[in-house]
Amino acid sequence: MNICYAKGQMCFLPLKRIISIYHIVYYSTICMLFWCFSQDSNGYNINVTLASASLQPFTHQQWQKDQESSIDKERKRAVTIHVSDEDGNMIEGARIIVDQTNRDFLFGSAISKNILGNLPYQKWFLERFNAAVFEDEIKWCETEPEQGSVNYTIPDLMLDFVRANQITVRGHNVFWEDPMHIPSWVQNLTGGALYSAVKSRIQSLMTHYKNQFVHWDVSNEMLHFDFYEQQLGQNASLEMFKLAHETDPLAWLFMNDFNVVEMCGDLNSSVGGYVGRMKELEEGGVTMDGVGLEGHFTIPNPPLIRGVLDQLAALNLPIWLTEVDISNTLDQDTQGKYLEVVLREVYSHPSVNGIMLWTALDPNGCYQMCLTDPSFQNLPAGDVVDNLLLKEWSTGVVNGQSDEDGTFSFDGFLGEYMVNVDFGNRTSNSTFFISKGDETTHYSIQL
Ligand SMILES: *[C@@H]1O[C@H](CO)[C@@H](O)[C@H](O)[C@H]1NC(C)=O
Ligand SMILES: *[C@@H]1O[C@H](CO)[C@@H](O)[C@H](O)[C@H]1NC(C)=O
Ligand SMILES: *[C@@H]1O[C@H](CO)[C@@H](O)[C@H](O)[C@H]1NC(C)=O
Ligand SMILES: *[C@@H]1O[C@H](CO)[C@@H](O)[C@H](O)[C@H]1NC(C)=O
Ligand SMILES: *[C@@H]1O[C@H](CO)[C@@H](O)[C@H](O)[C@H]1NC(C)=O
Ligand SMILES: *[C@@H]1O[C@H](CO)[C@@H](O)[C@H](O)[C@H]1NC(C)=O
Ligand SMILES: *[C@@H]1O[C@H](CO)[C@@H](O)[C@H](O)[C@H]1NC(C)=O
Repeated sequence: MNICYAKGQMCFLPLKRIISIYHIVYYSTICMLFWCFSQDSNGYNINVTLASASLQPFTHQQWQKDQESSIDKERKRAVTIHVSDEDGNMIEGARIIVDQTNRDFLFGSAISKNILGNLPYQKWFLERFNAAVFEDEIKWCETEPEQGSVNYTIPDLMLDFVRANQITVRGHNVFWEDPMHIPSWVQNLTGGALYSAVKSRIQSLMTHYKNQFVHWDVSNEMLHFDFYEQQLGQNASLEMFKLAHETDPLAWLFMNDFNVVEMCGDLNSSVGGYVGRMKELEEGGVTMDGVGLEGHFTIPNPPLIRGVLDQLAALNLPIWLTEVDISNTLDQDTQGKYLEVVLREVYSHPSVNGIMLWTALDPNGCYQMCLTDPSFQNLPAGDVVDNLLLKEWSTGVVNGQSDEDGTFSFDGFLGEYMVNVDFGNRTSNSTFFISKGDETTHYSIQL
């Protein structure tokens, strides 16, 4: 069966005949999957022939069950607490209270300078997130609007805030290939003058912030735009990555782009295109440390998301969703509904190591999607985040008693815990960490 007939053509009908998945979004997605993945790296169309296709229909319930069992396996671990006295005798009937105080999984949001001095915003942020990215504040247009006017005052203050609160922070971005987001004085430069401006941008920014950001988006959206390549030659991005790595060697280098996981049909950001660009950089001597996928969705398609993540997982690198939101062409209820679809799919994928929402709250609102109104009352998308992050994907407080073997077992999300054990007039408070692993982890407490 030929699935794709001509460049740009969807393969709706053939698949519609062979599978009977009840939900239209799903079958059209699977259809588009073939369309997407049948582009070769030059963007030409090739025909895929299926000799013997066997596609299983599934229901929403089955899909969700699959996500849940993956979350149990990837994000949680079984723990057994052993309670004994100072002579090592097991204690039965001790009262145990376990409380998760920190989540291991990095889940955060973009923040803007609007958070500085804004205590309600800071409180709201810290109650939810353990990771952040600055929306605009270290972009070249912001730090050096005119040549020589370099000023890091505002991002320095934002960094003080994240440091004071143990928030992990991504570095976004050193360069942005889109001319719309390049300072106009830089756009006026050519040749040697541009090259030396590029070098001093890297040296200035990345020396100032050495060891502060966990990741750097070095050449943002290079699958879609190529300002620096146009001006400086085809190795411009490669040079940027090399210099970036030399300047801040411990930070992880990322490519960051849109429409890889969001949709089919953007030829610039097919999985093949992404991986191909990565391989090119590798041949030039630069290795990426992770895979950055922006995640600016309109209508998300879970099977497409999973298909893309599965393919990228073969690279054996951590995958980060770096800018997740849902388009403001949809109403707020729909934004919330689709955000939930995206979060469940990406959080359940074993290769995803972090999720950043693109929901910085500015005086004029948010880029596409806000989680709250200006007084921090949840919008539908905020309810989704709170229900998942603070409830479903947190262990919270677990109460129990040690059994006749002096043990108490529970399943906990990875992260840091406080445990309080009481028996008669004896009491103990301690902390422990559940780290990733398949086997049950054991923790002993002596009263
Ligand atoms: C794909 O199949 C169509 C229809 O059979 C054919 O016309 C076309 O030449 C094929 N393209 C390639 C690249 O093989
Ligand atoms: C740097 O930026 C800060 C904050 O906008 C401003 O107060 C300060 O005057 C600037 N410094 C210089 C030297 O322009
Ligand atoms: C860019 O160059 C043009 C032409 O030389 C000049 O008029 C303009 O002021 C320059 N813009 C900047 C931001 O330097
Ligand atoms: C794809 O990338 C090329 C070069 O980087 C650019 O000229 C083109 O406009 C891009 N296409 C899309 C759809 O973004
Ligand atoms: C680009 O870099 C590669 C790898 O270092 C090198 O082989 C190639 O000659 C360079 N191309 C140009 C145009 O400088
Ligand atoms: C704790 O209780 C035990 C037995 O119930 C008693 O022997 C002991 O003196 C108590 N210890 C303290 C510090 O009150
Ligand atoms: C132990 O933790 C509990 C619950 O958090 C607290 O009420 C108690 O004061 C703590 N006891 C000690 C000795 O720190």
